[in-house]
Amino acid sequence: MNTTIDTPLNVISLENNNFNLYRLNIVELYRQVFSESSWKEGWKCSCGFQCSYWDIPDWFCSDCWEKMQDYYSQEEIEWFVKSIFEKDYYQALLWLSSSNKVVAFTWWWIDNLVGLNDEKLWLCMPKLKELRETLKKRWYDIEEAFYYQSETWVDPREQWKWYGKDIISINQDILRENQDKVSQVIQRTSKQSRMFNMRLAQWYELVYEYCDAAERVLFAKKV
Ligand SMILES: CC(C)(COP(=O)(O)OP(=O)(O)OC[C@H]1O[C@@H](n2cnc3c(N)ncnc32)[C@H](O)[C@@H]1OP(=O)(O)O)[C@@H](O)C(=O)NCCC(=O)NCCS
Ligand SMILES: [Zn+2]
Repeated sequence: MNTTIDTPLNVISLENNNFNLYRLNIVELYRQVFSESSWKEGWKCSCGFQCSYWDIPDWFCSDCWEKMQDYYSQEEIEWFVKSIFEKDYYQALLWLSSSNKVVAFTWWWIDNLVGLNDEKLWLCMPKLKELRETLKKRWYDIEEAFYYQSETWVDPREQWKWYGKDIISINQDILRENQDKVSQVIQRTSKQSRMFNMRLAQWYELVYEYCDAAERVLFAKKV
């Protein structure tokens, strides 16, 4: 994929051959970022309760008093991130500080709606049909592939420094440069994440609402 990047931090492509260098740093940040209040993916209990790392200082579930466990195991995160290297078209970018610490991460890949649904959207058939109808009405080509914009995150200690905005605009530039391949993007996020307003500000269209506790939504845009 063509990539033009202009940012004060060092941006590199994450690939199978450099993954090990950043593996532990990525795992640590994945956990911290998604443990925050909007996602509550810090601890989980077998009863279904989940919360941020800092919500329960004694690691016991406040609903059933069972011992909680990490929402994501290290292996799970590693496997999940590494799975992108098996895809035909993907991009995973890391923003690095001058001391080579990971500050931010974003990734996306290309697939059709059915493939994306199996892997990320998880809509039952009637709901997928609903999404297809909405997309069709808004002139998306549902038979063509989409970019799936997967997670974008910034180290919690480095948030509110405009890096998120920087990443989003770089993302957008890369997708535009490659629009001869694919010219539509879909993203799953949550109304509770700051990403929600950032995407609305960029004229992303709200095309589906999940009606779950995390208030997940799907956005789409023609790049
Ligand atoms: C969403 C996320 C990536 C944003 O990253 P960030 O680096 O903190 O974002 P920015 O600093 O670029 O801030 C974006 C907004 O905050 C505002 N902002 C940033 N720094 C600011 C500051 N110092 N003072 C006031 N406002 C500020 C900007 O105005 C911008 O708002 P705008 O779009 O209305 O102009 C980050 O909050 C995050 O990692 N969240 C957790 C993971 C997540 O939910 N990711 C999305 C999943 S899909
Ligand atoms: Zn419990």
